[in-house]
Amino acid sequence: MHSLAEALGVLIVSWLTYQWYAFRSTRAKIDHIPTVGSDGFIGSYLGAWKYFLSGYKVIEEGYEQALLSKCALSRPNHNGWIVVSGQDMVEELRRAPESELSSVGNVVDLLQVDYVLGKHVSDAEWYHVSVTQKQMNRNVSVLFPGIMDEMRAAFEDHIPLTEDWTSLKAVDTFVHMVCRIVNRFFFPTLQLHKDAEFLKLQTDFSVVLILTATVIGLFPTALRHIVTRLISRVPRTLKKMKILLGPMLEERLRLDTELGRDWEGKPNDLVSWLLEATPPAQRTVDDLIIRIMKSEFGGLHTTSIVLSDTLFDLAARPEYIQPLREEIEEVISQHGWTKDAFSRMHKLDSVIKESSRLGGLNFRKAAKDFTFSNGLTIPAGYSVGCVSRAMQRDLSVFKNGDQFDGFRFIRGSDEPAMVSGITNPDINFVLFGSGGRHHCPGRFLAIAELKAMLSHILINYDIRLPGDLRTPPAGQFFGTNRGANTFAKLEFRKRRA
Ligand code: HEM
Repeated sequence: MHSLAEALGVLIVSWLTYQWYAFRSTRAKIDHIPTVGSDGFIGSYLGAWKYFLSGYKVIEEGYEQALLSKCALSRPNHNGWIVVSGQDMVEELRRAPESELSSVGNVVDLLQVDYVLGKHVSDAEWYHVSVTQKQMNRNVSVLFPGIMDEMRAAFEDHIPLTEDWTSLKAVDTFVHMVCRIVNRFFFPTLQLHKDAEFLKLQTDFSVVLILTATVIGLFPTALRHIVTRLISRVPRTLKKMKILLGPMLEERLRLDTELGRDWEGKPNDLVSWLLEATPPAQRTVDDLIIRIMKSEFGGLHTTSIVLSDTLFDLAARPEYIQPLREEIEEVISQHGWTKDAFSRMHKLDSVIKESSRLGGLNFRKAAKDFTFSNGLTIPAGYSVGCVSRAMQRDLSVFKNGDQFDGFRFIRGSDEPAMVSGITNPDINFVLFGSGGRHHCPGRFLAIAELKAMLSHILINYDIRLPGDLRTPPAGQFFGTNRGANTFAKLEFRKRRA
């Protein structure tokens, strides 16, 4: 007994010594960078928890210092990250090649892919990203009628037109609707968008993955495999997904091998788009399931959050509803309920953009030491991002930047399209990223869906916040990421006037 306690003591002391040594050597690499909060051995772990609970406050505190000194800030711990501000540094950040500042590397860290999905997944090629950029985007217009059809069906089922007000949890309702619409787009000839179990697995996967990764990230690397085994529900979700999708994917792999790229009756769907690009070593059912889940993952909660926030803002400020209805009705009367029509709705663009001005951060992981032109070096292994939320509220960039101004992005221009363009990269507006090669490739699909859903709601429903409140519900913060309030409700009834 005595010797067991001694052995345990030696183990703990050795582990702490190793951690101390690792901490000292990584700390030395970023001594030159001003730090927000404590950067001591224990203090940086406490800082990690503070960041988890209210990261945006840490960043805002640093942004104010950084703006004055025009340099960077950091809060070092074992998953060290560094945040930069100032247009020059953000510009350099977005232009840096993947081999230097890696987007995939950052996602692997953020989602703890090595632990939650396995090292074989992080090491494999993330070809689904280029499939989103190419094959998927080519098909947004082609398959748009299906998106509209499914959207109308989803509204009938989830938000029926009623004479009295119906109260619904907005984010939850929209996640389910968006999941259905996206699955109709991804698998137009299958009936997956009608399969309740499949849709639930999809919506749960994103939440389970993010929660598991966040908890694991709070533990030292040596403990992460054990913690994953104890808490992760991801393997169970993937197993169930394999039962649902496995036979179909096996058949599609067989047909692709036997009949080649083009065969009569080949569906125009996500599986075909993926198979056009799948590296030989990844032509397996398991890997295809990961690619399908990850293709959906990027656009489910993000789209639902932006939709909920925009509606919260509009319900709290009903003076915007009439001008938007007029724009939507005019454009639809000329161009019908088409994708082209939605691209002409500039007031709607501006309102969505204004509502989502308060977004989160996008990080890159330094694959090797990366030095900005002002001399700041990001050591290999560290993540670097730009202070998007603070920048998007910066009063020197946005007049009255702390206030909602729905039409701020079209005001003062005779040619609104030149000014608003929500899908255009803009250094001061980073909802879809800070531009460059990793700028969100799903933004065209997301904006088409968002505008279709918002137009449908504004034309067919009256909306209000419970109690007809004139203040939108406060957002929820998760680290530095802001999301719409998941508890908040919206009320709908059939449009009266
Ligand atoms: C309103 C909805 C959406 C928001 C706010 C959003 C936001 C973002 C952001 C901030 C990034 C990181 C960009 C960067 O690192 O510079 C990103 C990347 C990505 N998004 Fe989206 N996204 C949305 C919808 C979608 C949709 C619908 C899809 C696909 C179905 C999608 C697929 C992706 C992919 C594949 C990436 C990785 C790109 C890369 O690493 O090269 N997103 N998104």
